[in-house]
Amino acid sequence: MAGEEKFALVETYGCQQNVNDSQKYEGILMEMGYTLTTDREKADFIMFNTCAVRENAEKKVFGNIGALKHLKAKKPDMVIAIAGCMSQQEDVSKRLKSKYPHVDMILGTRAMATFPALLEKVLTEEKCRVIERQEIDYICENVPTNYDGGCKAFVSIMYGCNNFCTYCIVPYVRGRERSRSMDAVLSECRLLAEKGVKEITLLGQNVNSYGKDMGMTEGFATLLSEVDKIEGIERIRFMSSHPKDISHKVLEVMSESRHICHQLHLPLQSGSDKLLREMNRVYNRERYLSIVNKAKALMPDLAITTDIIVGFPTETEADFEDTISMLKEVKYDSIFSFIYSRREGTPAAKMDFVSTEEEIKARFDRLLEVQNAISYELNKKCEGEIQEVLVEGISKEDGVLTSRNYANKIVNFPGDESLVGKIVKVKITRAQTWILLGELL
Ligand code: SAH
Ligand code: SF4
Ligand code: F3S
Repeated sequence: MAGEEKFALVETYGCQQNVNDSQKYEGILMEMGYTLTTDREKADFIMFNTCAVRENAEKKVFGNIGALKHLKAKKPDMVIAIAGCMSQQEDVSKRLKSKYPHVDMILGTRAMATFPALLEKVLTEEKCRVIERQEIDYICENVPTNYDGGCKAFVSIMYGCNNFCTYCIVPYVRGRERSRSMDAVLSECRLLAEKGVKEITLLGQNVNSYGKDMGMTEGFATLLSEVDKIEGIERIRFMSSHPKDISHKVLEVMSESRHICHQLHLPLQSGSDKLLREMNRVYNRERYLSIVNKAKALMPDLAITTDIIVGFPTETEADFEDTISMLKEVKYDSIFSFIYSRREGTPAAKMDFVSTEEEIKARFDRLLEVQNAISYELNKKCEGEIQEVLVEGISKEDGVLTSRNYANKIVNFPGDESLVGKIVKVKITRAQTWILLGELL
């Protein structure tokens, strides 16, 4: 039906890397003539870009795929694609194929380069299922990307993970570490600067090992200092940083840079040395604390955030107490906490639980309670401070803007819409647990 407008919808689950992949899928779809929509009823093409990191995420996706069945019945020409980390798992892909016949395309994590051709084929012929082998390791460059025109953007600098933490599915679904060339990353950042992007977040499962697969040493530190030189990029962030690989040089570059935010996401996972060993994290408390102390010595204003897993199979009450004590010692600005979720095929999936579900749930609540008090205490210290913030948009409250400070904390303040996308100075007037309130200077 030439001339008729076609709509595409990409729904994203999971981490920032998936968000960035979805922006690329959207870019490709737009180039193929689709108009983006958020309305499932209207869409001629629907993609779910999925996450496999925890069971909850997977359940939600299966539920949503089920819900597409009646849409497909009403509109048989519609194409449904399930992409990303869930699809990459052989068992999930088989289940999709046998139990969800309304799904037309099952695409693993490295199908992007072949996606346009596959979609053409599905539109004219048949269903497809593309699960790549681990060895396929090309990176596709120059993908049209839908950057949504905002003032912030993600740039993936590497894909995959070599670490095999015993609880984690990511290395199995994302394959081994592959870095993009420095030229490719820098040209993407320059292009974003030209488009008016002010803040870039460099993404990878373990950014500190950027370039190692290309034979570089201190590749990430070098990349950071190069991005720092790009005119127009006012703020640089990165995640995630594996503590075992962060170098002194990276901290030095951060502290000496013009634009790298003094903010570090340094996933701890657990404060117990025994658990860290069983998780295969390759650092212990002492090493972790020495990094934190070194970093704080170089950057006294450093904001630190982390990821914590509660209820790893062998976690006892004493192990959990070690995590709590780390929270109190490091004083994180905020934490992302997760209850351990068993992932088939990982080493931890074979371990027996030493705690009950109720005990684990109680620990999780306690963790949040301890952290909330710390976050509030740190926020309270900001009262009266003058901070630079990047205005991101209008908040739900009338006449109030929402912005982020260098630490990536939300700062809300009354102001005019014309300030969106700009960096302005505000005075922090009141602290809450998760946000700061301020007034424009
Ligand atoms: N590469 C990043 C983490 C990516 S996954 C890093 O190492 O820092 C994001 C977070 O999900 C992890 O840091 C971990 O806290 C959590 N996570 C991973 N696997 C999990 C599992 N099986 N159950 C619960 N949380 C998990
Ligand atoms: Fe998972 Fe560990 Fe790799 Fe992070 S470093 S993605 S937690 S295996
Ligand atoms: Fe999830 Fe895949 Fe990211 S498993 S956390 S979407 S790398």
